[in-house]
Amino acid sequence: MCGIIGYIGEKEVKPLLIEGLKRLEYRGYDSSGICVKNNSGLSIVKNVGKVEKLEKDARLSSIKGKVGIAHTRWATHGEPSELNAHPHYDCKNELAVVHNGIIENYVPLKKMLEKEGHKFKSQTDSEVIAHLLEKFYRGNLAEALLKVLPLLQGTYGLAVISKKNEEIVIAKKGSPLVLGIGNNKMLFASDQTALINYVPNIAYLNDNEIAILKENSFEIRNSNGKIIKPKIEALKLDAEDIEKNGFEHYMLKEIFEQPKSIKRALSGRLNKDGVKLSIDINLKKINRIVLLGCGTSWHSALIGKYLIEDLTNIPVEVDYASEFRYRTNPLKSSDLVIALSQSGETADTLAAIKKAKESKAKTIGLVNAVGSSIARECQSVIYLQAGPEIGVASTKAFTSQVTTLLLLALYIRKEKGMKLDKKLLKEILTLPKKVFSSLQTENKIKELADKFKDNKNFIFLGKGVNFPIALEGALKLKEISYIHAEGYPSAEMKHGPIALVDENMHCLFICTHDHTYDKVLSNIEEVKARKGKIIVITDKADDKLTSKADEIIYVPHIDPILAPLINIIPLQLFAYHVANMKGLDVDKPRNLAKSVTVE
Ligand code: M6R
Repeated sequence: MCGIIGYIGEKEVKPLLIEGLKRLEYRGYDSSGICVKNNSGLSIVKNVGKVEKLEKDARLSSIKGKVGIAHTRWATHGEPSELNAHPHYDCKNELAVVHNGIIENYVPLKKMLEKEGHKFKSQTDSEVIAHLLEKFYRGNLAEALLKVLPLLQGTYGLAVISKKNEEIVIAKKGSPLVLGIGNNKMLFASDQTALINYVPNIAYLNDNEIAILKENSFEIRNSNGKIIKPKIEALKLDAEDIEKNGFEHYMLKEIFEQPKSIKRALSGRLNKDGVKLSIDINLKKINRIVLLGCGTSWHSALIGKYLIEDLTNIPVEVDYASEFRYRTNPLKSSDLVIALSQSGETADTLAAIKKAKESKAKTIGLVNAVGSSIARECQSVIYLQAGPEIGVASTKAFTSQVTTLLLLALYIRKEKGMKLDKKLLKEILTLPKKVFSSLQTENKIKELADKFKDNKNFIFLGKGVNFPIALEGALKLKEISYIHAEGYPSAEMKHGPIALVDENMHCLFICTHDHTYDKVLSNIEEVKARKGKIIVITDKADDKLTSKADEIIYVPHIDPILAPLINIIPLQLFAYHVANMKGLDVDKPRNLAKSVTVE
């Protein structure tokens, strides 16, 4: 949540900061702002709304300089307003701060500073950092920051510039920060996508470290001020990874990328004879598995339960990371805790995996963002290899998570000495082709989206491994089209939600052919008997179904255990086209942010 970026170098900083903010905008887009330093001091321009608005702000034209910091906000403390937007000044406009995270003890700090005469302009927690710096600043920015950081409770990825110092000083605790190392320029950002094309190399900052960036050098220090040797690595992403490639929205591009992203998840890891994963933990003696995640990642975890229990016979529990972190967790050394996360930065998932690590349990991360906090926190990591996901609604990361969970289930099965089913391995290799066929439902989906875009409610229903698909389909629709949608196990409907069914209620059933088919069919009958409208996703024409359904979407048939990966595609497309037809901002839905780095 919130994106920050900064540059010090030989070029004009403004265009780079604006481009960087656009790339980071998926992290929050309530308001944005930049601060540029030049010989006459610091200049700040801030604006409510998207970065596009900031870019067009006439006040920007007079701002020039080669050092600057910028911020795009997802409001936590204080409404989205120009005053609450970052950067924040101290009282004398000599220091400016951008901050991602939450300062939990800002109230007593603010009271103390106000008593000392500091004047606050915003309602944010972040502004205390600027005033604390002012209190301790005696000409050396890093020294002042090292005095301020121990006073802050909470999380931060922050950057500071001053009127007098030719440098940017940054600090991290619990919110991501990466340095971009170039020739005659140094950058930092909340994530590496903002650095693409600007620098060849990067270095991650660890918690409780600060970095001092100058035009031609940088230094990382620990909280005692001791210099730390940086681990410099190549920035492996390129511009194509963050472009729309002819699609109207990132979300649509990412939906259509899935045959390729699933292929990448499988690549080098599975062939018709077996599975290969580089996991440096012994999984032979694992007796219990706990899967953790939030939102869509929690839905893939639910599918993971079906896959792992079915293929390994090991009991699996699935938990919301936000619940797990505040409960007593009796974990043993024979337990394996798996954290699922696209961004690798979700605060709850990060805290949950840290908690799991306090026990003797083994930890694995299934993460998309390379080098992210969760990836680095887990004992072992399996990368999803989906490439950057920019649309706020997760699509390709979801199918890559499910694919990777499948690989992990097969790997554990092999480790446990159980035989692999060669037929299933062959079927898994057909996934990219079958997902491509499932994408061909788009025209039918567009028709349905046009027909139903003004509906107020939907119920999504599925059974077994397709129950999480019902949840995920409903979440996609809610997130981007703002239509109320509930996901339920289809048999649960009669225990309550059926009271909502009348001739205006549309129920979307996932009813592909597996051992639960007849049961789902009965649930369809129950809705039909109450005049509810039936939309069905199925894999084979069948009179029993066609006679009951008002609308049918046909997807390719596949082994039932793999069906979630095929069945989710029309639901992603449905959510996308409904939102697009309603003229909504598909990639940046209201109130949401891609990476939820606060509680
Ligand atoms: O980056 P993560 O996978 O940890 O994110 C978890 C959720 O915040 C995320 O899946 C969210 O629910 C998405 N908006 C779903 O589309």
